[in-house]
Amino acid sequence: MTDLKSELGEAVAAAFAAEGVDATLARVTTSDRPDLADFQSNGALAAAKALKANPRELAGKVAERLSADPRLTSVEVAGPGFINFKVSNATLAKRAQAVADDAALAGAAAVAEPRKVVIDYAGPNVAKPMHVGHLRSSIIGESLKRLFRLRGDTVWGDAHFGDWGFQMGLLIVAVGDEGRADGFLVEGDGPFPAESPVSLEDLERLYPAAAATAKEDPAYRDRARKATAGLQGGRPGYRALWKHFVAVSRTALEREFGALDVTFDLWNGESDADPRMAGMIADLTAKGLLVEDDGAQVVHVAGPGETRKKKLADGSVIEAPSPPPLLVVSSEGSAMYGTTDLATIVDRRETLDPDLILYVVDERQAEHFEQVYRAAYLAGYAKPGELEHLGFGTMNGVDGKPFKTRAGGVLKLHDLITQATDKARDRLHEAQLGADVDPVEFEDIAHKVAIAALKFADLSNSRTTSYIFDLDRFMSFEGKTGPYLLYQVVRIRSLLRRGAEQGAEPGPITVVEPAERDLVLTLDAFDQAISDAYDKRMPHLIAEHAYRLAQAFSKFYAACPVLIAPDEAVRGSRLALSKAALDQLVLALGVLGIATPERM
Ligand code: ARG
Repeated sequence: MTDLKSELGEAVAAAFAAEGVDATLARVTTSDRPDLADFQSNGALAAAKALKANPRELAGKVAERLSADPRLTSVEVAGPGFINFKVSNATLAKRAQAVADDAALAGAAAVAEPRKVVIDYAGPNVAKPMHVGHLRSSIIGESLKRLFRLRGDTVWGDAHFGDWGFQMGLLIVAVGDEGRADGFLVEGDGPFPAESPVSLEDLERLYPAAAATAKEDPAYRDRARKATAGLQGGRPGYRALWKHFVAVSRTALEREFGALDVTFDLWNGESDADPRMAGMIADLTAKGLLVEDDGAQVVHVAGPGETRKKKLADGSVIEAPSPPPLLVVSSEGSAMYGTTDLATIVDRRETLDPDLILYVVDERQAEHFEQVYRAAYLAGYAKPGELEHLGFGTMNGVDGKPFKTRAGGVLKLHDLITQATDKARDRLHEAQLGADVDPVEFEDIAHKVAIAALKFADLSNSRTTSYIFDLDRFMSFEGKTGPYLLYQVVRIRSLLRRGAEQGAEPGPITVVEPAERDLVLTLDAFDQAISDAYDKRMPHLIAEHAYRLAQAFSKFYAACPVLIAPDEAVRGSRLALSKAALDQLVLALGVLGIATPERM
């Protein structure tokens, strides 16, 4: 940490130690009474309890020791033994200058020991439409990728493309039944047509129809199963056809994700784990982990006594192991979703050797990951703590159910972005923003406002809670919204531009006014927000900070004239403070995956 709070924490710890008390109790926090103090430490209460001493007295002694610290202008004991601190203007100015000069991190600290991290997010599937779970995963995962990278970790974002299940067999059958796959259905090694026989529209039309047919028609289902087995078994024509499905889907998805400013370092598919499958199954068998269960092969992952009540088909209730065994090979001989995930861990271990894998996937898959992780730990493919499922709540419609489009269909990313951009245009017109830019720039601004609205609405909620999709609210230029923050960014940029036009440049920072002090204390809090967001994998802490910073800037700007300040040094200092606020705000928004326009 590089913030004032930690610096003061060290001083308080030293004072505690000098009084013979446990220095680890000397935690300094932001004051919850900003009218009385900047920071506080409540450690004397716990310390006194341990020593059976009077807390006020102990606090007094500690305060006495700290009163000589030149960074502090007041050290006071309050209530039962809280210590309140006020820091000097000079100390704040120095910290503000450090933040302003820190182009890379705007006052936040890098991690002490960088790690290698894989973030598995978005998880779209070939041909299957995306739903809100994929959208949230994309937004949250992208933000975590940027956060971990900002702090110095080596990060791979992996889309973990769903390209290998039963849906592939369904598509092979469906395309074949339309008579379009003849060139691929022949036996042998090919050559096979280089052109895709299907477009994205075909896939989107064929997949739901085929899935519906398979539900009703066992014979159809059986053909799809055989096709899946043929594909997974390596039949060349099926593979060639499948490659077209994957390529067509991926191209479309990359375009959609691109519009959302979501990009991946790896587009590894579930299929990439396939070559690891046989070796892994042999290894699990050799380790005695793979056992026969009702014709299938499973790994038992529950510990002794870990059970829960389970109702059987005949209505009787038994105590079943919990979590249930991981199904590795089904009774029909096929590999399952969990098998793929386990083999993907083996694959990542071999190719990237990460210290940590984060899975940003819908909370509803929590049990699946619990099973996979336990199996991986049992087999020694990862060490406990290296695999982490980051679940999240759903984005709901006003009916409280997972959001659907007006037509009742699952959400299409492209449609959602179009809808949001339409609304952004309207709002900009209403607010008479973007009136004097050319049409191309206006479109860019509207797009950025739309993405900011969607992403900020998502990321300002704690990852684990659900929230209601309300585009009108998300798109407002007032309140805790993406558009409000973009507006603040643009306002500061315009201020700096006007300054430059008048020949006024940022200069050395001095701090005098209460609103300047508040702004600097807010800038200082960024370090904590970043490290908490990182430790908890909670981007909303950064969203919150961004909002607070924008508000602190607004108050500063209202209270402290910048360009019309009579004194040149004051003007320079306030311009520098404005620029520091801008840089930190842009960095914070960048971590949230939100790009900002130059003007509106
Ligand atoms: N494709 C999956 C789905 O649509 C999500 C994949 C999540 N990641 C994983 N490693 N299983 O539900």
